[in-house]
Amino acid sequence: MEIKEIVKEKYGEAARRVAGGVGNACCGGAASLEGMCDPITANLYEASQTELIPEMALKASLGCGNPTALASLQPGETVLDLGSGGGIDVLLSARRVGPTGKAYGLDMTDDMLALARQNQRAGGVANAEFLRGEIEHIPLPDNSVDVVISNCVINLSGDKDQVLREAFRVLKPGGRFAVSDVVVRGEVPAAVRHSMELWIGCLAGALADSEYTQKLAAAGFEGISIEPTRVYEVEDARTFLSNQGLDADDIAQQIAGKFIGAFIRATRPGHAAI
Ligand SMILES: C[S@@+](CC[C@H](N)C(=O)[O-])C[C@H]1O[C@@H](n2cnc3c(N)ncnc32)[C@H](O)[C@@H]1O
Repeated sequence: MEIKEIVKEKYGEAARRVAGGVGNACCGGAASLEGMCDPITANLYEASQTELIPEMALKASLGCGNPTALASLQPGETVLDLGSGGGIDVLLSARRVGPTGKAYGLDMTDDMLALARQNQRAGGVANAEFLRGEIEHIPLPDNSVDVVISNCVINLSGDKDQVLREAFRVLKPGGRFAVSDVVVRGEVPAAVRHSMELWIGCLAGALADSEYTQKLAAAGFEGISIEPTRVYEVEDARTFLSNQGLDADDIAQQIAGKFIGAFIRATRPGHAAI
């Protein structure tokens, strides 16, 4: 409960900052340090995508990847975005699946939902809907979604197994899990890991790549792959780490190449009904 309340407060504040025109949402624990979130959230979207959505949706972007570019969405499909924030990936997905398809966003933070709905109206997107709820308890029926996307949210959940089971439940047989998230590769000392997670903005903790694979398999998924999309460098986190009492030079080797933005794919077994 406590994690959820902290997450809600933090992202509610980020949404109000954007809605109030004060600036970008910035990311996670780095929000108070000017510019520190850039290596994570900056330049994720191509100009061909950003010109399709309202400016405020882009300003509210808090992801660490671009799942709509990497997931192969087809016209007529139903897409669900777990932790949809200001709605950027929902609005882009809605365009990709077209008027015969539908894009749902799910978020538990009221101010984010309000911002997403405002962006939907500004963008004139009819085939999208933002739902209030938790990614651990998805308010959609079994076998109702073709593609589950998410952008830097599953790492925030205190019960990732439950999130993956829920994603599996709502996917149709043959449905795809296509998620951007922060992942840790290899061993990192707990204190260093905690500081890096604070910097990236992951309160409950990023999964190791092997854990992610195991948890997806335990939920029933197959065809699992984890592809690095961005590697976070010690240089980017130097000021933050020194404010945390850590010497970036000392721990550079322990961090190098280990914290990554990744694109995670998996499939629910079975054949899609025609
Ligand atoms: C890092 S932001 C990412 C937002 C969006 N995906 C993007 O790329 O801009 C995390 C979002 O997930 C939502 N969130 C975090 N944990 C959640 C949970 N357990 N259930 C529902 N929403 C959650 C937060 O309210 C916030 O809007």
